[in-house]
Amino acid sequence: MADSSSLPTQEIVQGLLESPARIAPKYFYDAAGSLLFEEITRLPEYYPTRTERQIMVAHGVDIAHRLGSGATVIELGAGSCEKARELCQLIAPAHFVAVDISSEFLHDAVVQLRDALPDVDVRALAADLTADFTLPQDLPRQRRLVFYPGSSIGNFDPAQALELLSRMRGLLDDDGALLIGVDLVKEVAVLEAAYDDAAGVTAAFNLNVLNHVNQLIASDFEPSQWCHCAFFNVAESRIEMHLEASVENVVRWPGGQRRFARGERIHTENSYKYQAQDFVRLLNQAGLARTEVWSDDRSWFALFLARP
Ligand SMILES: C[S@@+](CC[C@H](N)C(=O)[O-])C[C@H]1O[C@@H](n2cnc3c(N)ncnc32)[C@H](O)[C@@H]1O
Repeated sequence: MADSSSLPTQEIVQGLLESPARIAPKYFYDAAGSLLFEEITRLPEYYPTRTERQIMVAHGVDIAHRLGSGATVIELGAGSCEKARELCQLIAPAHFVAVDISSEFLHDAVVQLRDALPDVDVRALAADLTADFTLPQDLPRQRRLVFYPGSSIGNFDPAQALELLSRMRGLLDDDGALLIGVDLVKEVAVLEAAYDDAAGVTAAFNLNVLNHVNQLIASDFEPSQWCHCAFFNVAESRIEMHLEASVENVVRWPGGQRRFARGERIHTENSYKYQAQDFVRLLNQAGLARTEVWSDDRSWFALFLARP
């Protein structure tokens, strides 16, 4: 299994030298970051996980009826594989491949999933889904279902999201499908609370990226000199997360350094919120013309089933 430490450090250094500085959200996920994300999913303010689950519970039979059994499921950004477990119990696939960048956490999740699903061929693939990754050669091409829950697609701007959706389409034959969870536009106070919870777990998650970056590029970020900052950017329809320097500081790494003024920010995440019809348009542009959508009572979140 590939280790996340082998990922290109060049990308991180380049982002740190930009103005404003940025760190890609995929670097949240070392083992500690993955555990913190699991904690976030249980917070009262963090509605996406439980809302997506409610949709699956309410409409699972309907979705399963459309997909049938014996498919090959490929989950991108599988994390704890909790949603995969529920989906696989519904649709009884023949093969399941969990793809995630957080290799150690993925490995543990897949070991547990194999115990829970003894009749499914369960495999782990530690890979960065934003780069080219190779699925196992012997994985059937027929009746594939790409599963991308959690509104992780929201981490990409619409142009990047279109490119990623097109690559997902490329994993499918004409009999394949994509099941994707997408967070929808809603009241700003609800959105902002979900990314800045009272218990400070999202703040700890955001700050942990500095520990991970220290490990990856041997830098000397001092997390206590940084604060979590999250807000909804209405014009871009996205939550933005940043880390803000609470004091002037200099961060050094082998071969480089950057001075941050007090109040200067590092942009760590975007989470785009969609109108359902805009996301359907994006799916269509990616070559996924036949779409169905299920939502919750408040229309806070949507699950799209899209086919070529
Ligand atoms: C927001 S969590 C969602 C986890 C789970 N799918 C869910 O719906 O609760 C994002 C997941 O995607 C993984 N991830 C983030 N960026 C990734 C990338 N570039 N390549 C592969 N996995 C990535 C993270 O490790 C994490 O498990």
